[in-house]
Amino acid sequence: MSTGEGVRESWSTRIGFILAAVGSAVGLGNIWRFPFQVGQEGGAAFLVMYLAFVVLIGFPAMLVEFVVGRRTGLNTVGAIKEFGTARWRYLGGLFVFIGFVILSYYSVVGGWVLRYILGSGRGSYMDASAGEYFVSIASGTDALVFHAIFMAIVVAIVGLGVQRGIELSVKIMVPAIIAIFAILAGYAFTLDGAAEAYSYYLQPNLDVLINNWASIVPAAAGQAFFTLSLGMGVMITYASYLSEDENLAIDGTSIVVFNTGISILAGLIVFPILFTAGVDPETSGAGAIFISVAQALTDIPLGQVIGVLFFATVAIAAVSSAISLIEVVVSYAIDEFGMDRVPATLAIGFLIFLLGAPVTVDTVMVDLYDILAAQILLVIGALLLISLVVIFHTEEALDEIQKGVTDLGWWGYLWLWIVGVPVVIVLGVSLMLGLDTYVKFLQGPFADFLSSL
Ligand code: TRP
Repeated sequence: MSTGEGVRESWSTRIGFILAAVGSAVGLGNIWRFPFQVGQEGGAAFLVMYLAFVVLIGFPAMLVEFVVGRRTGLNTVGAIKEFGTARWRYLGGLFVFIGFVILSYYSVVGGWVLRYILGSGRGSYMDASAGEYFVSIASGTDALVFHAIFMAIVVAIVGLGVQRGIELSVKIMVPAIIAIFAILAGYAFTLDGAAEAYSYYLQPNLDVLINNWASIVPAAAGQAFFTLSLGMGVMITYASYLSEDENLAIDGTSIVVFNTGISILAGLIVFPILFTAGVDPETSGAGAIFISVAQALTDIPLGQVIGVLFFATVAIAAVSSAISLIEVVVSYAIDEFGMDRVPATLAIGFLIFLLGAPVTVDTVMVDLYDILAAQILLVIGALLLISLVVIFHTEEALDEIQKGVTDLGWWGYLWLWIVGVPVVIVLGVSLMLGLDTYVKFLQGPFADFLSSL
């Protein structure tokens, strides 16, 4: 990882970069957040919107981050300083802030995953109802303790600066997730509720889209950014280690394809199980994946073993994403304040732990942090970064995107135009709608929660 000084490291192999970016992208966003968003936003209508946004907005925006990173060869904050005028340093500050907020609740959910490794090993959710078990561990002391453990793991890895650790973890994790997901999806396919679930998940209903577009649009945009690790400069840092003969568009395509495939698979597991159990996907909320997988494992031969393997794999996926989040903050502290890596990581990890502690009070707190981060902060971050590139650096961006490719011809211009016009418009609209969603959340479920205290 970058310290911004000395000889810069670079990825040992081309596949190393792709794997690290996949390691950042594939995480709780695919396995936990995606099914829960689909459930809240009405099923297939959300899926279609989300897929469209991944291709039309996420992918072009990812190339923007790649271009900035490889062009400057710097960490996020340094790159923005080099590309912008003095005032743009606040954008670097915003990215660091977003990293704090996201990791603080991400770690609480990561803690749930760790708790489920133990729970599976002991078979704890096998005698209780899967729903009750989730509620019993999702908030309170258990949640706080496992949040602390998750942060401790992340801090230990990043403190050591183990770059190879990321590459290695991804090489094991991605195939493991796919293999175990395939087994679980195969099981889910045999359930009674499968047909109903597939039609809910895979057959878009235009009416649902039309009636709910104002909440689907910002949710889908937020999910696209969240899952691709965009909007706060992670991909800037990773691309800064790339060499110039790499074709950015091809690398970006592989990352997007892998990442999307894993999300879709997660839905193929969750929905048949929820429908079979008679649980309304809309009400299962943040617990969707935990409750449905636990329920499946109760029925399946070797459920305990598969459970341990499954949640351990998810934990690796979560840790490899968390690393990319904290690294943005740590590299900033090292560059800006001349801190050493170990004390910087420890201090930041502790602050993030504190910021996440309130999330363990009640699951409504997850929404409080999550909607803010995904539907508002990441969108603002992406909008500002795109403006910086499109307003001040079009020539350089075009030049950079063409490296490693013979000649992109008009594709390069098309890309810049897409990023500069439709993407900006859609993000602007999303942001407005996202703010509205957030206000409604604060006045509704969150106000109810506060008055129940
Ligand atoms: N993409 C990761 C996931 O899906 C989470 C993540 C890592 C992230 N780095 C990010 C989200 C940067 C937003 C921005 O689990």
